[in-house]
Amino acid sequence: MPVLEIKNVTKQFGGLTALNDISFNIEEGEIRGLIGPNGAGKSTMFKNIAGFYAPTKGSIVYQGKQIEGKKPHTISELGIVRTFQETTLFQELTVFENALVGCHINARTDLFSAIFGLDRKKQKAAEEKVMEVLDFMGLSDRKNQLASELPLGSQRALAISVALVSEPKLMLMDEPFAGMNPEETNHMMDLTRKVRESGITIVLVEHDMKAVMGLCHYLTVLNFGQLLAEGTPEEIRNNDKVIEAYLGGAN
Ligand SMILES: Nc1ncnc2c1ncn2[C@@H]1O[C@H](COP(=O)(O)OP(=O)(O)O)[C@@H](O)[C@H]1O
Ligand SMILES: [Mg+2]
Repeated sequence: MPVLEIKNVTKQFGGLTALNDISFNIEEGEIRGLIGPNGAGKSTMFKNIAGFYAPTKGSIVYQGKQIEGKKPHTISELGIVRTFQETTLFQELTVFENALVGCHINARTDLFSAIFGLDRKKQKAAEEKVMEVLDFMGLSDRKNQLASELPLGSQRALAISVALVSEPKLMLMDEPFAGMNPEETNHMMDLTRKVRESGITIVLVEHDMKAVMGLCHYLTVLNFGQLLAEGTPEEIRNNDKVIEAYLGGAN
């Protein structure tokens, strides 16, 4: 059974059809590339999966359950996280504090626990989880630095750490390589592989073709809201429709 099934999803904004009858499946454990030119509908697809938008038509099935139209917090509790195209770190908080923000799902406080002090245990568990993730992402030496002091590569690694502390099963990554130099790109590729090896399925929206071709097992190509092609990186690299619509201009 695929971990995620996109079934005939259409998303309209007024008269504009951002996604037109799109269907594809994501298999457990893969790194899937979702690529295509600007305006193709990639971020809109992520927002439909993560519950920020409801599809106009169609359905989204995660681990056998229909999730389309559910609220973002419900979907994140089910194990889907999205790392944003825009950086969403709290610049004036430390690395540790930023990662702790991602724990809100697991360390949720109820009134009873708050009054009777049971939360200290949850707090401690959350802090341990944060340190484990920062270690995993190579950020433990920077835990007391402000997010604003981090170089780009570490900022992106922190954004992924925030997502990881909620213990997701499926991670939607929106352009994590944007603006990176070759060294930062290589490091982020290693981190992405490591995340996948830890048992998390990844869908990657990205324009950096070195990263996409190097990381992804399979690619889904969107163009003007249509599904243009699917295939292995090799097949997509040699697909005439894709070259014409996208790769010819990009690389
Ligand atoms: N909230 C919105 N309201 C109206 N149009 C939108 C909205 N979000 C995206 N769009 C439009 O939908 C299309 C797809 O956008 P987007 O998903 O951001 O593309 P991509 O991420 O592939 O560059 C674009 O034409 C964009 O202008
Ligand atoms: Mg986008």
